Amino acid sequence: MAAAPEAKGPPLDGHRLFTENCAACHGESGRGDRKLSDLGFVKFGVKMPDFGDCSFANREADGDWASTIHRGGRARAFPRAMPAWDKALNDDEIEAIIGYLRTKCEKSGWPRGEFNLPLAMFTEKAFPEDELLNINKLNTKGPYAFTSTTIFEKRFGATGQLELNLPISSVAGSPHTQTGIGDIGVAWKQNLLADVDQGTIFSALGEVVLPTGSAAKGLGSGSWAFETHGLFAQIMGDYFLQGDVFGAFPTGKGLANEAHGNFAFGRTFAEDEGWGRSWSPQVELLTTQAFAPGEKLQWDIVPQLQVSLSSRQHVLASFGGRFPLNDRGGNRQPQFVFYLIWDWYDAGLFEAW
Ligand code: HEC
Repeated sequence: MAAAPEAKGPPLDGHRLFTENCAACHGESGRGDRKLSDLGFVKFGVKMPDFGDCSFANREADGDWASTIHRGGRARAFPRAMPAWDKALNDDEIEAIIGYLRTKCEKSGWPRGEFNLPLAMFTEKAFPEDELLNINKLNTKGPYAFTSTTIFEKRFGATGQLELNLPISSVAGSPHTQTGIGDIGVAWKQNLLADVDQGTIFSALGEVVLPTGSAAKGLGSGSWAFETHGLFAQIMGDYFLQGDVFGAFPTGKGLANEAHGNFAFGRTFAEDEGWGRSWSPQVELLTTQAFAPGEKLQWDIVPQLQVSLSSRQHVLASFGGRFPLNDRGGNRQPQFVFYLIWDWYDAGLFEAW
């Protein structure tokens, strides 16, 4: 005989729990209709969050809100007036309140913050973002080569994102090292699918690369190029897989078209029982096939570790190494790679530490 189902109480009422515990400050509607100046305990001018604003609410993951609710405003450098609830409410009650807050943004189509996975070094993310990134690559063997690329990303609407890439390179040359701007890229990312229950996101990206770097000095390719990317991620419990499959089509004479498949697998560990600083180890596998006679499939592996630096987790750093697995030498040298990201929508660069 099948066991009797476990006795369960009535489902938790997130709306009621919110009204009882949170509405005094967040307002009955949770739409930020109470100003802190009315509440009288924090400096004038701070605005309460509007949980019905899709552009704000959807870019947050449940885990971000849960951290603030469990540990209080301090945990994510919000005002201390936001109390810590982990003594007063249990995990299920907090989850029920978050579930209720999620009903406030009724428009669909905004990919959820859960998909804002740790950025890998070479695998472009599927999630559209507002961020500033500086990524650096230094050869640790062979001829000296260093590239520092600054990438500005800005969202448009629920699903679009513009991206500008500005590389500055320094390479060994004869008779001396050459330094200057590389090939500037302009890209548009379009999110096409984001299903938070399945943990699946998919986006397309098109990029135009301008011949701004000097080919003679070894800083650029000397011709226009186009790239088309398919970007995806799959969340599997604590683990995630990200993928970036793309074609690169240079227009210059004698330059071969290339197909690339970059994949990143990793997970995130957070301090303070999951509510604090996050550490995300990942390993990337990079594959490249150039379409020219005699070119073989090239493989690289990139172990790396990302860590959040600020309390708001809007400033993050990552470092790792790129190791060619075959076809070594020439321009395929091991590299030290590191980056800094600032999610500028979340807070100023020097705020919320
Ligand atoms: C005593 C007043 C007060 C109470 C009660 C309160 N909060 Fe807050 N809450 C705040 C303040 C102040 C902030 C910070 C606002 C800011 O600076 O963005 C905040 C921020 C938050 C945030 C972070 C929003 C963001 O920008 O990411 C969440 C989530 C939140 N509160 C949820 C809750 C929940 C859920 C409850 C009830 C269990 C609750 N709060 C009760 C005052 C309060």
